[in-house]
Amino acid sequence: MSVTVGRVTRPPLQFATATSSYQVEGAVGEHGRGPSIWDTFCAQPGRIVDGSDGSIACGSYHRWSSDLDLLSALGVDTYRFSVAWPRVQPTGSGPPNPAGLDHYERVVDGLLERGIAPNVTLYHWDLPQPLEDAGGWPHRDTASRFADYATLVHARLGDRVRWWGTVNEPWVASFLGYAAGVHAPGRRDPAAAFAAAHHLLLGHALAAEAIRSADPAADVGLALNLTTVLVDDEEAFEPGEQIDALHNGLWLDPLRDGRYPRTVLDLAPLLGDPSVVRDGDLALVRGSVTWLGVNYYTPIRIASHGESHGGPGQEVAAFPGVAPFAVAPRGAVTAMGWEIEPLGLRDLLDRLHSWDPTMPLHITENGIALPDDVRRPDGSVDDPARIDYLRRHLAVVDTARSRGVDVRTYTVWSLLDNFEWAMGYTQRFGLVEVDPLTGERRPKASFTWLAEEIARRRDG
Ligand code: FCB
Repeated sequence: MSVTVGRVTRPPLQFATATSSYQVEGAVGEHGRGPSIWDTFCAQPGRIVDGSDGSIACGSYHRWSSDLDLLSALGVDTYRFSVAWPRVQPTGSGPPNPAGLDHYERVVDGLLERGIAPNVTLYHWDLPQPLEDAGGWPHRDTASRFADYATLVHARLGDRVRWWGTVNEPWVASFLGYAAGVHAPGRRDPAAAFAAAHHLLLGHALAAEAIRSADPAADVGLALNLTTVLVDDEEAFEPGEQIDALHNGLWLDPLRDGRYPRTVLDLAPLLGDPSVVRDGDLALVRGSVTWLGVNYYTPIRIASHGESHGGPGQEVAAFPGVAPFAVAPRGAVTAMGWEIEPLGLRDLLDRLHSWDPTMPLHITENGIALPDDVRRPDGSVDDPARIDYLRRHLAVVDTARSRGVDVRTYTVWSLLDNFEWAMGYTQRFGLVEVDPLTGERRPKASFTWLAEEIARRRDG
């Protein structure tokens, strides 16, 4: 179904699913892969709620071909997956490990043979451990190492991959990893988090520049976990603005205008050393994307008083200078405790349309973890609440498109139940269940629903 708004006819919405390397691949010690910060973090007692790690995960490193068959059965246009940096450069610098690049070349060729476009993410949080030992993202040199790595991957795959994502959710990588300490590398140092955020943006821009200098036609963007901040009482306005600035403006303003938002600059002296931002850095970030990836799950609803009930946003409380607040989801929540509110996506898409009406938007993640996937007598999983969640968010995307917002892709997180970071295997986001013992894949009812929805739109 194409959409016509005024005189503009847009091609049909594209469908995709997503995974990331550490969450699905396993095989962490194979074919020369080096250790990443997630291997190290998982090995520390108490870091992962069920004491698990990604050493086996879904076994997708070996099962990649049958996973791609699942994508064919779904009928998706695109697969968003990530390359593990420590497979390509086991120590984070130096010459490439050919076996690592061979693997991703097979995946890309397998996708193209099936008529599915690869959307390659270069960094979905698995930093090579030696780079963390040298200072990690708070250390400026990591940004240059990242650009070198991007150059190596592009040199091997750039003739077949048009669509590149540099960094996934720099907010999570910097704030959860370096301030809240709940993600790898587990540091609790707000000043380091601000430096990490800046260097992730800089690394993105340097990688984008490197890819474009090799191929000016490459489509390079990044995926941000943007959200809508809802404020429930007047006294929460100030923290609301601060959280909005750290979550959204911190990334959107430099990308469009080449400067950080006022609210972030006001916080910056409290956050550490503003001199990490050097002359010319933000000029490089400005205009560095030709598409923007939007990962949306939930709004952040905050109040001035009360207890936080979990959910994204509260980690910002780790920062000095942020006014006190509570995260207070309302109504139905997911197994993660995240409020279900598709209108948050509507408001976010409207905001992004005003931010830059010419920027192609791709929903690069949307999905739900459920506490109670129901097993049918035949052993398959019935997940009506997932279907309902996806249907409602998809309806928001359709409506936005009919109002002229240039959303091109809707990506479900995730193809498979997988390793959900600090939550281990306790949170299941997949359209496909993965047997923890055998690795067997069992599509859920939501998989069938999505396949039918894609087919209906294609035929209609
Ligand atoms: C996003 C991550 C993704 C997955 C989902 C649930 O923040 O990008 O890897 O963990 O959340």
